[in-house]
Amino acid sequence: MSTTETTTVQTNGTVHALPADHVSNGFFGQHILSVKQFDRDKLDYIYRVADEMRSLVKRFGKANLLDGKILAKLFYEPSTRTSSSFQAAMLRLGGRAISIDSVHYSSVTKGESLPDTVRTLESYCDLTVLRHPQVGAAAEAARYARKPLINAGDGTGEHPTQALLDIYTIEDDLKRLDGLKVAMMGDLKYGRTVHSLTRLLSLYETEFCFISPEILRMPDYILDEVRASGHTFTEMDDVEGIIGDIDVLYMTRVQKERFEDPAQYDQVKGCYAVDTELMSRAKADMALMHPLPRVGEISMEVDDDPRAAYFRQMENGMYIRMALLAAVLGKA
Ligand code: NCD
Repeated sequence: MSTTETTTVQTNGTVHALPADHVSNGFFGQHILSVKQFDRDKLDYIYRVADEMRSLVKRFGKANLLDGKILAKLFYEPSTRTSSSFQAAMLRLGGRAISIDSVHYSSVTKGESLPDTVRTLESYCDLTVLRHPQVGAAAEAARYARKPLINAGDGTGEHPTQALLDIYTIEDDLKRLDGLKVAMMGDLKYGRTVHSLTRLLSLYETEFCFISPEILRMPDYILDEVRASGHTFTEMDDVEGIIGDIDVLYMTRVQKERFEDPAQYDQVKGCYAVDTELMSRAKADMALMHPLPRVGEISMEVDDDPRAAYFRQMENGMYIRMALLAAVLGKA
């Protein structure tokens, strides 16, 4: 497609011309399964479209880019932000969404397989967003899908759209992505968001600090990838020694639902908590991030601190998902 082509977006009577590659690029018709599909150019492209989506929402609330398109949301695990922001993203672009947010009330309970469930939904819809407890489930489902499928979290594997919105928020807050010292603290073993985020940040000059209890260390396969990409990292069990040096502190919840042994969960639950005292020793422009939900890792007294980025993260999630939906579906 020529980059001089344009497509139009109508908002409350105003017609905007967007470059056609702003709604297709290399993403048109593609599955989004892993952050490994992204390079810096692709990320930058999604971020610039997300900027446009943000200004469209702020000025007009909606656009008609995906008029007539239907999104299927198939969630085998709980979700608040990911599910509702995908739905809101679709609605704001003029599309519609159907949700199977509680698979227990669907034919899954009767024993229907994931491929059959996905094939069913895509016969009514244009794109499927899938969250599933098994690592690799999205890739497996995509093997059977004839229409694009987006991974909204596959067990302890990946959560690509969360990492996209995380990096978008870092860039927004800190105005740069290279040369940052990023600490991730909490459940680095089972937390899929930090797996995707580490992979994506490896595309930039990043100094990594992985902070966790011994039994929740970042998996070796991720650490091997970090080394292979030429980055250094340190592992530690608390943030005290580095709190004044880091640019980003990314907290995660201990993923109770992933533990086979509840006694092990009891050993590590509540292991970290950020409070105003800790924040008083952090850099004046450090971004404090969390994918949410939080269950005690960040005290509510920190919420009014301008460095608390987690509410900005969740809003940015909608713009990022609007950008992705437009890119994957936009130019049919
Ligand atoms: C995360 C998830 O589902 O992996 N939540 C989210 O999508 N924002 C993090 C978590 O559940 O701890």
